[in-house]
Amino acid sequence: MKLFTVLLCICFFISTIYAGCVIQYPYANTVWMGGNTENVTWADDNASPSMLEIGDMQIDLMKDTNNQTKVITLATLVHPTDFFFACLIPNNIGPEGDDYFVKMYNNNSYVVYSHTFTIKNISGTVQPSTSQPATTDNANNTVGTQ
Ligand SMILES: *[C@@H]1O[C@H](CO)[C@@H](O)[C@H](O)[C@H]1NC(C)=O
Ligand SMILES: *[C@@H]1O[C@H](CO)[C@@H](O)[C@H](O)[C@H]1NC(C)=O
Ligand SMILES: *[C@@H]1O[C@H](CO)[C@@H](O)[C@H](O)[C@H]1NC(C)=O
Ligand SMILES: *[C@@H]1O[C@H](CO)[C@@H](O)[C@H](O)[C@H]1NC(C)=O
Ligand SMILES: *[C@@H]1O[C@H](CO)[C@@H](O)[C@H](O)[C@H]1NC(C)=O
Repeated sequence: MKLFTVLLCICFFISTIYAGCVIQYPYANTVWMGGNTENVTWADDNASPSMLEIGDMQIDLMKDTNNQTKVITLATLVHPTDFFFACLIPNNIGPEGDDYFVKMYNNNSYVVYSHTFTIKNISGTVQPSTSQPATTDNANNTVGTQ
């Protein structure tokens, strides 16, 4: 019973991540530097939903897989078929750490995450998340107080 529950959770997790689009970069050994322009790249895994079905997506930089804190919005209205987005990483976004990750999502509860990776050459603090991750896809439910 317990094992079944665990398997169910793992399957759900995998299907959430690997449906439609897969973030290829940043990955586990990636190091981003504050002050640099860094790339987010993704690919079509040919699973449903298709890139066209997904529609425009927003890209957020997140920190802490347990608390899923939004650090900054990197991009809005990104076309999935671009497969690429370049963004300047400000120096003041938060403390250096190896638990940053990228979240891409649309307004229709489609969401995909990158692997966690490292950002250096930054300083600052990150506001703890005040709302559940699942509700951040709604345009009226922005995380934090910004
Ligand atoms: C660190 O950030 C500063 C300020 O943006 C920048 O000038 C410098 O090139 C960055 N250092 C590295 C190693 O990227
Ligand atoms: C980002 O992509 C551009 C274009 O492919 C490339 O010239 C650049 O070196 C990449 N930057 C990084 C940090 O990988
Ligand atoms: C989500 O909806 C809001 C409000 O309609 C809009 O401003 C935003 O651009 C949409 N985001 C995406 C990724 O389509
Ligand atoms: C998550 O946030 C709570 C409340 O802000 C904090 O007590 C907890 O230590 C955080 N968890 C992690 C893993 O940072
Ligand atoms: C967002 O807020 C505006 C103004 O309060 C409201 O008219 C709109 O219906 C809300 N949209 C959603 C999706 O909750």
